[in-house]
Amino acid sequence: MIEQINESKAYIEQQLSGQLPKIGLILGSGLGVLADEIENPTVISYKDIPHFPTSTVAGHKGQLVIGELQGKNVIAMQGRFHYYEGYTMQQVTFPVRVMKALGVERLLVTNAAGGINESFDAGNLMLITDHINMMGDNPLIGPNVEELGPRFPDMSQAYDKDLIGVAKSCADELDLQLQEGVYVGNTGPVYETSSEVKMLRTLGGDAVGMSTVPEVIVANHAGMKVLGISCISNMAAGILDQPLSHDEVIETTERVREDFIQLVKKVIKIM
Ligand code: HPA
Repeated sequence: MIEQINESKAYIEQQLSGQLPKIGLILGSGLGVLADEIENPTVISYKDIPHFPTSTVAGHKGQLVIGELQGKNVIAMQGRFHYYEGYTMQQVTFPVRVMKALGVERLLVTNAAGGINESFDAGNLMLITDHINMMGDNPLIGPNVEELGPRFPDMSQAYDKDLIGVAKSCADELDLQLQEGVYVGNTGPVYETSSEVKMLRTLGGDAVGMSTVPEVIVANHAGMKVLGISCISNMAAGILDQPLSHDEVIETTERVREDFIQLVKKVIKIM
């Protein structure tokens, strides 16, 4: 795995003329527009990077955008890899390994998620304070590569307290409502049944989605500090009396993307 990471890293470094990124961004469904704000961008298609998988879902582009945002050197994934696409957990999280190898120490992970907490509304942004892995798999299963991280990584502060504090104060300054809660990671690709949503609420979940958990596990293994923001694109099944659709998810994320962009830009400036 180390060799593959280094080959990907070397390819990306070759494309860059300026500084190496220190902050990583993973942009979820409908949130990829944030990468358009990156200045002096170097854009690299996933298909050109050795060992990178390629992304298949509608609403996701498949490229890295590397450049400056708020004066910081950032690397953004415009489109991520999902477990439900058939990738292994190792493939899903490979880009996080490459980011770390490039020197990224802080990772901002975003997603679209269904709201489970009844006090939420579609269109809210939620700061992820913790997660519950319901995917029945883990990217760290298998022999541990000591150079990449410890065999038994601590996950007691998977989402960094200081970064959570930064995000909250940024939202305050912008006078922007920011919910907080626990993200539950399911495999998808189906949305949940109403009964599953009830169960997840009982278990302590506030929002549910089909990503993020694998990347955050690997980022913690690698010793990176993580901040997570969900866009509550819909209320999860059974909370409102209406069916869910991917179109609704995309429509809502488009509606709130200005708020989302403002918040992330302010956070990046400080983080
Ligand atoms: N469930 C799972 N994943 C999702 C949802 C949902 O309701 N909305 C957006 N991603």
